[in-house]
Amino acid sequence: MIIETKRLLIRDFKEEDWSRVHSYCSDEEVTKYTLWGPNSEGHTKDFINKSISAQYINPREKHELAITIKTTNDLIGNCCLNIEGSNAEIGYCFSKNYWGNGFATEVANILLKFGFKQIGLHRIYATCRPQNVGSARVMEKIGMKKEGHLREHVRSKNRWQDSYIYSILVQEFEC
Ligand SMILES: CC(C)(COP(=O)(O)OP(=O)(O)OC[C@H]1O[C@@H](n2cnc3c(N)ncnc32)[C@H](O)[C@@H]1OP(=O)(O)O)[C@@H](O)C(=O)NCCC(=O)NCCS
Repeated sequence: MIIETKRLLIRDFKEEDWSRVHSYCSDEEVTKYTLWGPNSEGHTKDFINKSISAQYINPREKHELAITIKTTNDLIGNCCLNIEGSNAEIGYCFSKNYWGNGFATEVANILLKFGFKQIGLHRIYATCRPQNVGSARVMEKIGMKKEGHLREHVRSKNRWQDSYIYSILVQEFEC
């Protein structure tokens, strides 16, 4: 599948993407607030292989996608839309070379449009660690509302971690 935005092409992963994905998924700064990482080569290859396998499951629930810049073909990050009935969770991660250009907002917005208009979802949500100010700001900018602070929600990196949860309902979405 391919989704286009003004500046970006969001597409299914291919096996050969792994090294470009690994360059940022192995970065400690990029993975500071993610529940995974920093990745070993094995982790990244496994992630790409699982993402590719999910492309063949019908109906498709997991959409783990590569984000590339249209003009240069640079692979700058990845995003996901994972369907759970009439709900879906979205997520995103970018190489730090591309932070601060509005790319996360552009991607998150188009994932909402895809989820609501094309798939017919009712609610889309996302979580982040409370310290991840940038990620929380992206969720606010795309119109999500903060639903709560989940205490010791997930265990990751050898500790219990809190989450903020944000969501948007179909009737709140303006495209
Ligand atoms: C968080 C992340 C996705 C933001 O991506 P980005 O492309 O830089 O975000 P945008 O440029 O669309 O910025 C959106 C808003 O967040 C703000 N923002 C982004 N990073 C920020 C930070 N570290 N601190 C404070 N604000 C930040 C921007 O200023 C902008 O707000 P504004 O328009 O009001 O100025 C990116 O830093 C990233 O990939 N981080 C590592 C992976 C990660 O944490 N993913 C999320 C897991 S929950």
